Amino acid sequence: MSGGNLLVTGGAGFLGYYLVQAVLHWNDTRAAGAKINLTVYDNYARGIADWLEALRSRPDLTLRRHDMIEPLPKDIGHFDYIIHAAGIASPIYYRAQPLKCIDANINGLRNLLDYAVAERNAGQPLRGFLFYSSSEIYGDPSADAIPTPETYRGNVSCTGPRACYDESKRFGETLSVVYAKHEGLPVRIARPFNNYGPGLKITDGRVIPDFASDVFAGRDIVMLSDGSPKRTFCYATDAVTGYFKVLVRGRDGEAYNIGIDRPEISVAELARLTVKAAQDICGYRGKVVLGESKEADYLIDNPNRRCPVIDKARADLGFDPKVSVEDGIYRSLIWYSHNQTAAAA
Ligand SMILES: NC(=O)c1ccc[n+]([C@@H]2O[C@H](COP(=O)([O-])OP(=O)(O)OC[C@H]3O[C@@H](n4cnc5c(N)ncnc54)[C@H](O)[C@@H]3O)[C@@H](O)[C@H]2O)c1
Repeated sequence: MSGGNLLVTGGAGFLGYYLVQAVLHWNDTRAAGAKINLTVYDNYARGIADWLEALRSRPDLTLRRHDMIEPLPKDIGHFDYIIHAAGIASPIYYRAQPLKCIDANINGLRNLLDYAVAERNAGQPLRGFLFYSSSEIYGDPSADAIPTPETYRGNVSCTGPRACYDESKRFGETLSVVYAKHEGLPVRIARPFNNYGPGLKITDGRVIPDFASDVFAGRDIVMLSDGSPKRTFCYATDAVTGYFKVLVRGRDGEAYNIGIDRPEISVAELARLTVKAAQDICGYRGKVVLGESKEADYLIDNPNRRCPVIDKARADLGFDPKVSVEDGIYRSLIWYSHNQTAAAA
């Protein structure tokens, strides 16, 4: 990607934090004169984070407020690589704004793919295009499909409260494959499995920030299910390495699971690990209790298990996630302990 122009949509978000910081760090330490020119489009629907604002004056970074639902800016210029990460990722937010969720995954993606066709027709073909899909395209897999390989076709409700997310990611994959096959574009797909880590807003509504929010409010940790659903949790630095590999080395029109394959732990075990880390870090004295979400749809269509097979990414891309969930929780809590204001912004 050296010397190329990279567009990251949704670059102000949680994964954007890592995508942006990784590129700029590479520019500072390795670029040797051929920096990556990075542009971020984001609608800043939940505000612009301090970490991004602080980078605004860098000459190798352009920040632009743009809603991906709208037509692309006329003066967009040329990009060699595009990462389409803009979207509403947290269930509490996408259930509240289902149409915006659908539009970012479908219309926003289509606008970018048509732009890539136009660039190709103008003799300036893109070198890589990454669509952020989701492990949610698998829905609630049957027991024989855990761990879940890319070949599993999914068990998804097309009308339930999560359908706006799951089905728009599924159709986004269809669009990506059609443009790869019929237009010859280098479109690759990543299916993230439960990424977490520093930078994930404490107000995000996903389980690890929810637990961190209980810890730093001095409350007991409240589990909003019976604690039995199981997940693997992939630390963001591992995952982001995978996303760059999919963008640059992935096969056109193909999807890659990006996550960690072990350990698969229950939400109850995650809560216990959080308590243990919090005791070490800040002398936390709370315990784990059961509660109920105020949102009626909170548990509807919530998958019982989520665990990836990552052999394809290992073999094709050399993807090798390493950070244990114990370490990752520890690191995340340390970050939340210093960044509760920025994290909540
Ligand atoms: N984090 C995970 O574990 C995970 C898992 C599966 C899939 N994903 C996918 O990865 C991508 C990034 O996820 P994240 O965790 O960083 O989410 P996030 O919510 O932290 O960040 C998304 C960013 O996109 C922006 N955005 C939303 N709609 C937009 C629009 N219409 N136009 C412009 N910007 C818009 C938001 O302002 C935000 O900055 C999303 O597509 C998400 O669905 C993430």
